Amino acid sequence: MTVYRWKNYDRYKSEVNQVREYYDAVHRCHRLALESLLPDQAETALDIACGHGESTCILEPFAKNIVGVDSSEDLIDIAKQQNKHAATDYVCTPFSEFEAPEQSFDIISSAWYLNHVLTIEELESAIGKVARLLKRGGGIAFVVPGNSFTTRRIQEIARRDFQWRQAWTHERPESTEGVFSFDGNWIQTRVWQPFFLMKFMSEWFDIHAWDVKGTLVTEGLLQNLVCEPPFEVLYGYRR
Ligand SMILES: C[S@@+](CC[C@H](N)C(=O)[O-])C[C@H]1O[C@@H](n2cnc3c(N)ncnc32)[C@H](O)[C@@H]1O
Repeated sequence: MTVYRWKNYDRYKSEVNQVREYYDAVHRCHRLALESLLPDQAETALDIACGHGESTCILEPFAKNIVGVDSSEDLIDIAKQQNKHAATDYVCTPFSEFEAPEQSFDIISSAWYLNHVLTIEELESAIGKVARLLKRGGGIAFVVPGNSFTTRRIQEIARRDFQWRQAWTHERPESTEGVFSFDGNWIQTRVWQPFFLMKFMSEWFDIHAWDVKGTLVTEGLLQNLVCEPPFEVLYGYRR
């Protein structure tokens, strides 16, 4: 199977009409969830599937030392070139092969990672690894596709405003599988239902869903979006 390299993802985010506004709203909710978890700056944070580092920068106010991990060499190279934060390190590796001592992080965060975990066994192993790497009482904040991500109305909005195409082939109670593309290349993905993920993760974490809709309305973000927002932020503490 070809490993997709996400080469143009940073350009896509900054150039395509309305995409920037969308990701800024996602980041705002992600940041608010982290703020609610962490009143004081922590020592260490990990960003899984950090891409070109945009989601890693969100962690800067929350931790002194940050590690971003991603399997795409192209994006890690960009992250390293653009890095302005002396205490951030970027590592190119799939998360399953990332090595760090147990309980070495105060915060583990990710944006759009779990939808690239394609089997239940991999999900179990990824979440188990997060639980092992995180200190007891440490915080997690995961941006994931929302329940509405695969609906026809979001597909239409995505095609029209984001140059983003989706084709869903398997709908199951706990997930929807298929492919999406932002640059003409199809990327396999599995959108786990946020409620399923919350139940799954509750074995290790006290887990909540950020009030994304409330934040968008009170802060006047994504004014043109009138349907359910297509993302969630799951956050909480390691028990
Ligand atoms: C939609 S991008 C998100 C990037 C970044 N978090 C952001 O918000 O800009 C998804 C990222 O997941 C990475 N990825 C996918 N599977 C991975 C894995 N098993 N381990 C590490 N990174 C992975 C891809 O290389 C890609 O950079």
